[in-house]
Amino acid sequence: MAVANKHIVSIDIGTTKISTLIGEVKKDNILSVKGFGISSCIGIRKGVVVDIKEASKSILDSVEAAEKSANLFIDSAYIGVTGKHISFISNWNEININSPSKVVRKSDVDKLITTANKVNMPPQYDVIHTLIKQFVVDEEKEREDPVGLYANKLAVELLVIYGLAPSIKNVVNSVKATNIEIEDIILEALASSEAVLTTEEKESGVIMLDIGGGTTDVAVYKNKKMIFTYCLPVGGNFITNDISIGLNIPFSKAEEIKKKFANVDYNFYETLNKINMGEIKIDRSKTMLNIRLYTIVNSRVKEMLNLVKEKIENYKILHSVPCGLVITGGASQINGLSSLANTIFDMPVRTGVSIEVEGPSEVIGNPIYSTGVGLLKYAYQMEKFIGSEHIENKKRKDVSLMDKFRKFILKVLRSEN
Ligand SMILES: Nc1ncnc2c1ncn2[C@@H]1O[C@H](COP(=O)(O)OP(=O)(O)OP(=O)(O)O)[C@@H](O)[C@H]1O
Ligand SMILES: [Mg+2]
Repeated sequence: MAVANKHIVSIDIGTTKISTLIGEVKKDNILSVKGFGISSCIGIRKGVVVDIKEASKSILDSVEAAEKSANLFIDSAYIGVTGKHISFISNWNEININSPSKVVRKSDVDKLITTANKVNMPPQYDVIHTLIKQFVVDEEKEREDPVGLYANKLAVELLVIYGLAPSIKNVVNSVKATNIEIEDIILEALASSEAVLTTEEKESGVIMLDIGGGTTDVAVYKNKKMIFTYCLPVGGNFITNDISIGLNIPFSKAEEIKKKFANVDYNFYETLNKINMGEIKIDRSKTMLNIRLYTIVNSRVKEMLNLVKEKIENYKILHSVPCGLVITGGASQINGLSSLANTIFDMPVRTGVSIEVEGPSEVIGNPIYSTGVGLLKYAYQMEKFIGSEHIENKKRKDVSLMDKFRKFILKVLRSEN
């Protein structure tokens, strides 16, 4: 049954900004971003909450801006999670099909997955996702859905994604402090992939990079499934910091210069003299300044891309991605990035923004919102999968009462600061 006129809310808690998006599922099953809010972020470092009070204040600012833009009250949301504490393991399990007919039933699949999901996790870790990589029916690999097939033996390979429990709890508590209920927690790399990758890319094999302010989230897809993920705790803020130190200027000025003038294209050297950085009052010749900027930014971005490449290479999947690399996130806008990534990875590269979703172009066409839009898209898929019954039975709250209560909490929160 179609899910109509239902709102889905996502909160992307990034290192530099928090974005809240309100999605609406239209009658034709198309997801549309109906409202959005953004706030600059304090209390997050390298994708991880370091100050719950500051983080929850920023979350509330962003939520309220989204509420205002859509004229709707938000009482629950899907939340993104990332950080270098996140890792994964592949798990395998197989069962014999014992029924006389030898037809795989849903109960066989449920039993198989439940057992495979019992991973021996160290106590300080929590499972974030259990994703099916593939079913194997009598040695035949890559079965999508084995229910109804004849089989002697059924096996499943799972990708179990987990993270440090205290880090996840800090994100949860920052959101809870705003009195917003968490629908679910979703890996940010999974969300960004959902936003920017085509089904064909996921099927053939592709690498997704979301280069944000404090992290670079990586996901690799093959046969439509995520097979690898990694979070490099380095992002665009590190480039800004290098410029700030290298040119001896404040961070805010370095950020401005990065966005306006930085370029990592190998061919950029030829045009260095033509770039006018005159408005930056630094006592150095124009060409010298340009070369210095190029060297600073180029070496940092090169280092970041090489670190990601090495991780994927170590997992022996670098040559399973004919669709190459799709780069998104705010720092994907750095000039010349595709060209440099193409040289380093030796594969096709494109920059990605959200696809197959409607909404304001300032959201859909801006790579800083890829995670937020992806959270909405992934949540919508999950809700569709769980079924309309669950959605229709979801408890609806007394909006005006809740609104009053949260405003009161907000006042208390603010008066404490
Ligand atoms: N035009 C641009 N050129 C280069 N860099 C840019 C541009 N616009 C934004 N950035 C950089 O993008 C980064 C922010 O990206 P984004 O909003 O995706 O990160 P985030 O979600 O806050 O952080 P993270 O995902 O790492 O926790 C900043 O480092 C910013 O300087
Ligand atoms: Mg981000």
